[in-house]
Amino acid sequence: MIIVKSPREVTMMREAGRMVAKTLRHLESLVKVGVTTQQLNDEAEKMITSFGAKASFKGYGGYPASICTSVNDTLIHGIPSKKEVLKNGDIIKIDIGIQYNGYHADAARTYCVGNVDNAIKKLVEVTTASFFEAFKVIRPGVYVGDLSHTIQTYVEKHGYSLPEDYTGHGVGQNLHEDPQIPNFGRPQTGPILKAGMTLAIEPMVNLGKKETKVLADEWTVKTKDGKWCAHYENTIVVTPTGAEILTLEDQGG
Ligand code: CO
Repeated sequence: MIIVKSPREVTMMREAGRMVAKTLRHLESLVKVGVTTQQLNDEAEKMITSFGAKASFKGYGGYPASICTSVNDTLIHGIPSKKEVLKNGDIIKIDIGIQYNGYHADAARTYCVGNVDNAIKKLVEVTTASFFEAFKVIRPGVYVGDLSHTIQTYVEKHGYSLPEDYTGHGVGQNLHEDPQIPNFGRPQTGPILKAGMTLAIEPMVNLGKKETKVLADEWTVKTKDGKWCAHYENTIVVTPTGAEILTLEDQGG
């Protein structure tokens, strides 16, 4: 069942979303050669606590940290570590969920560390752009499959692949709600969007093959072929005329 939020609920999610955006902006400024993923995690936790909010991922299904930090060939759910030091040329995916007043907002970015190879930069740009391609399509009456298809078409046109085991999702009082939003699919399939639905749309894109594997820690998801991958996610609300992004850094400070 897809939960439609009232304007009052959307206001609360907008607050959580702004906190996510502020935390991302702060972490982006800290992403430098020599920083550990544990330091990024601790800075995020400090900031989230200062908001009077909670890190959504902490303890979720037993997840052991406040954010996910996924470097290079790690796609998602990388666990921050004090042994993991960022190097020149790395990319890092930072995924953050914040719960405030009972509502979650969820977003992810891929940041470059120092000088990153042009082919990798292009991967990151296309991943980000694929989100905005899907975002442009959103309005009441559109199918979830239309969003999936838009992401797939855009990403595959650039020669990249889409892992199939992980999807976007509804978000609200729960971090994960209906519907699932796959990053591949056919137009005019799946649920139809209505104003007040709140969704986390999150293209995950591989430079090489689509297959992924989960490490023995039961969280870390890496590409099977060891090639690098990117992730970009925002929480959005469907509005009567289109959609609004709740987790964008340049909105409302
Ligand atoms: Co998500």
